Amino acid sequence: MTSPIYSRITGTGSYLPGSPVSNADLIKRHCLDSSDEWIVERTGIRMRYLAPDNVGASDLALEACRRALDAAGKTPMEVDLIIVATSTPDFVFPSTAAILQRKLGVSNSSPAFDLQAVCTGFAYAISVAEKFVRSGSTKCALVVGTEVFSRILDWKDRGTCVLFGDGSGAVVLEAGNAPGILSTALHADGSYSDILCVPGQVSGGLAIGDPFLRMDGQAVFKFAVKALAEVGEEVLANASMTIDQVDWMIPHQANIRIINSTAKKLGLSPDKAIITVDRHGNTSAASIPLALDEAVRSGKIRRGDKLLLEGVGGGFTWGAVLLEF
Ligand code: ACO
Repeated sequence: MTSPIYSRITGTGSYLPGSPVSNADLIKRHCLDSSDEWIVERTGIRMRYLAPDNVGASDLALEACRRALDAAGKTPMEVDLIIVATSTPDFVFPSTAAILQRKLGVSNSSPAFDLQAVCTGFAYAISVAEKFVRSGSTKCALVVGTEVFSRILDWKDRGTCVLFGDGSGAVVLEAGNAPGILSTALHADGSYSDILCVPGQVSGGLAIGDPFLRMDGQAVFKFAVKALAEVGEEVLANASMTIDQVDWMIPHQANIRIINSTAKKLGLSPDKAIITVDRHGNTSAASIPLALDEAVRSGKIRRGDKLLLEGVGGGFTWGAVLLEF
């Protein structure tokens, strides 16, 4: 009898472009009718990073992936799958994953594709990569979340433009003979597609419709807390574990109040939640791997820790991954 194949994160990396932009700087730069106090109190966000115009999602991903590969002790040529979660790709096509493959120098014709689940993108991507690894077709996957959300923000809409930032995070997921990823759960409900969307498209060489991010903040807030609590319980139940066995929750970094409310509903102490939203803003699909990498590099997260990764975002989509690091 052959023993089962498991998947394990063997390296993490992340990258943030340029220097941090404080709330005060952003307000001044875009003449916003807002204040640092309002933004901090409602969201927990104090600063974010914004990519220069000539830097795309693949450029940020390249740096994050180099760092993740270095941490895992792998070379680009050992990578046999690339999945890039992004809602802000370099182009309509080719995929950001294909561009990243070229930039990394992965010339072994292994599969590379983008995955679009907005802020749940990384949870979706790692769940998909895990299935490739467990099937035996992939030995070493790069799973990336990378975003330049600054490109789709309406700087006249103070209700949304203060919330987001740019950045990238990546993990190397390898086949092994011990878990690794313990349980995953993914969901979507398209009937909520209107509460968070960019309702525009490119047609005939023009942007048709509204090419900026639009959001019903209160509806998103309610949906996010309920979905994150439920999917957290679901992955724990699937693995026959309880919340007390979780060392760290790494939630999507949208808003400190969403994170604290989710922790409370799950019965998790708030100091077990990794928080980066204060320094990065909401980096959509990049937020979970960015937070994971920071916590690993700071020594907070150690080998053997049980981690609960949770995402929620446009679609609406939501999902969670329970793993042993
Ligand atoms: N500065 C000052 N005032 C503002 C700002 C701002 N940046 N933005 C909105 N306001 C004003 C509004 O115009 C409104 O003014 P009015 O009463 O004169 O009409 C007032 O503040 C209250 O607006 P609300 O939208 O009711 O404020 P709320 O308390 O709901 O906070 C927020 C808004 C922070 C967006 C909140 O709804 C929220 O956090 N929602 C979750 C959304 C989120 O995190 N989205 C991220 C993307 S989704 C995801 O990643 C899962």
